[in-house]
Amino acid sequence: MDSVDLFRQEAHRLVDWIADYYATIEKYPVKSATRPGSVYSAIPATPPADGEDMESIFADFESIIMPGITHWQSPGFLAYFPANNSFPSILAEMLTSALGAQCMKWETSPAATELEEAVMNWLKQMTGLPDHFEGVIQDTASTSTLCAILSAREKATAYHVNNNGFGDQPVLRVYCSSEAHSSVEKAVKIAGIGRGNLVKIGTDREFRMVPALLEEAINMDIQNGFKPVCVVAALGTTGSTAVDPLAEIATICSKYGIWLHVDAAYAGTALLLPEYRWMLAGIDRVDSFVFNPHKWMFTNFDCSAYFVKDPGCLVDTFKLVPEYLRTQIPNHVNDYSNWGIQLGRRFRALKLWFVIRSFGINGLQQKIRQHIAFAGELKGWIERNGDFELMAPVLFSLVCFRFHPQKVDSMAELNRLNEQILMAVNQTGRIYISHTKLDGQYTLRVSASQTRIELIHIRKAWELIVEKAASVYHA
Ligand SMILES: Cc1ncc(COP(=O)(O)O)c(C=O)c1O
Repeated sequence: MDSVDLFRQEAHRLVDWIADYYATIEKYPVKSATRPGSVYSAIPATPPADGEDMESIFADFESIIMPGITHWQSPGFLAYFPANNSFPSILAEMLTSALGAQCMKWETSPAATELEEAVMNWLKQMTGLPDHFEGVIQDTASTSTLCAILSAREKATAYHVNNNGFGDQPVLRVYCSSEAHSSVEKAVKIAGIGRGNLVKIGTDREFRMVPALLEEAINMDIQNGFKPVCVVAALGTTGSTAVDPLAEIATICSKYGIWLHVDAAYAGTALLLPEYRWMLAGIDRVDSFVFNPHKWMFTNFDCSAYFVKDPGCLVDTFKLVPEYLRTQIPNHVNDYSNWGIQLGRRFRALKLWFVIRSFGINGLQQKIRQHIAFAGELKGWIERNGDFELMAPVLFSLVCFRFHPQKVDSMAELNRLNEQILMAVNQTGRIYISHTKLDGQYTLRVSASQTRIELIHIRKAWELIVEKAASVYHA
């Protein structure tokens, strides 16, 4: 299909399809009910020798692919954390794909680099992050956290590991709470530190890291000849959105000269609201910070905002300039491929720019406050129902709770009941919720963070959960 006219015709058709999809998204079962292997077995084992027309490719998209899609943008999608998007973001992604620019260096698309600088400065202002931070867009929070741990490793070893390998370096140690996201453990593995050297610190009753336990662990490690290099604090843990006490953790990190990285992948978006800036107490002593506009800020996957106090350390950790990448203008511009792992980079700043301009700060704040209010409504219904209980404080748009009828006490039985409720609810296809375990207790998670979610969706979700709880319990 290399005729522009044919492309125009097909593109119009697809835009109509996309608009219809969003207009009717609630007719789809939110969670795909496809059986394992069914999509794979519908795809021919060998690729076509001759090109096919869009008509037949698209027909297969509808009949084979669509049934295997879980509808993350449906207002019934209440699982995990969101990966929400918005129409301005989709439009920007269309342009990104049309331009097809690979933005590894300033020279390979100056506008992409300079727009990235500008929107990262906007984000800094919008979230109340310190002015001295500098930002770069990574693909995911996992990558951002890996960059942080690699930078921390290099700073602590005076770039010895980069240059010579671990050799006779002391054993390096990294710390996070027992509720931290698994991306921290993955990063520690990849960084060669070894997952056995990730120290998981205990949490309090609200699942926040206990600073005294952190300091104790650091002291013990130092006595044993280990070298503490990095602490990862979470603003909004994955399980229950707990917020680690940053100021106290920062004081410990400063005292022992340890890199402090903050993972605010989901809850960082709440910093757009001045009433949530209390989470930032201590941020002036933080070395690196990540939050994902691709989670809760209406910017479609992927877009992770990574901020650092010292870009020099980041660049020194990653920079390599072989002859074929040398340009005439070093030192005057940012070559973002030196600010992370990959060389090739997508033009992600464009969608952030479209989203921020299209919503405006007020529009973004309004939507986020609405989501938090919806979670507050659900919290109230749970509190007023004697057969359910909250499992964690509701700080943002996530509610953690479980069915707990008065006559059932055993944890195993409660876990079994709640697991069955989750399955029964998700099987309806009307909503999709997920779970976690908090203190070993099976916990239902409802995240009210969809771009197009309204109170009615939360109301209906709650009614469905209550109905399924009753039928599972009386079965
Ligand atoms: C707190 C936290 N950190 C990191 C991640 C990983 O995010 P990503 O998929 O962008 O790597 C998640 C994912 O939900 C998360 O909740």
